[in-house]
Amino acid sequence: MFPPSSMLFLWFSFLYVTSSMADPHSLNYHTTSNSIYDVLLAHGLPKGLLPKGVRDYEFDVDTGRFLVFLDRECNAMFENQLHYETNVSGILSYGKIGALSGISAQDLFLWFPVKGIRVDVPSSGVIYFDVGVVFKQFSQSLFETPPVCVPNPKSQHRKIGNQFVQSGSVKMA
Ligand SMILES: *[C@@H]1O[C@H](CO)[C@@H](O)[C@H](O)[C@H]1NC(C)=O
Repeated sequence: MFPPSSMLFLWFSFLYVTSSMADPHSLNYHTTSNSIYDVLLAHGLPKGLLPKGVRDYEFDVDTGRFLVFLDRECNAMFENQLHYETNVSGILSYGKIGALSGISAQDLFLWFPVKGIRVDVPSSGVIYFDVGVVFKQFSQSLFETPPVCVPNPKSQHRKIGNQFVQSGSVKMA
């Protein structure tokens, strides 16, 4: 369940205030001693959903809200290519990431923001990416280890409505 957008806005305002304080380990916003990959595993999700190169992260155990800071934006290749922004955020619950922001998936030369990711509980070995119009299915085994993520700036992506189009990838006859 996601909070209504007004709540989300309040939450982001709250985040902004707390993150501008020097200490990220403040009372209401915990950084656990585990890695974010362990946090994913503890929620029944494969740790390879996030690439190598995580510089820092925050995870609120009460709300499931997480923020991941990568060294740089980058692309990782699974069956499809995924683009990671420098900041990835979402809300974790068991077997599921909701309100996801900062990851897009390439399909047929188009980039789709991934809005959510879920697995079946108990696991069926399938992982589902919510790209708005459809859930794309992948084998969960593709995501067993964090992939190397190749630096790739967003400037290569032109945003059209909800979709990211890689410029130069669609040639007109
Ligand atoms: C990522 O988050 C940090 C800390 O909240 C912020 O300072 C920075 O501007 C964000 N970067 C981007 C590209 O949004």
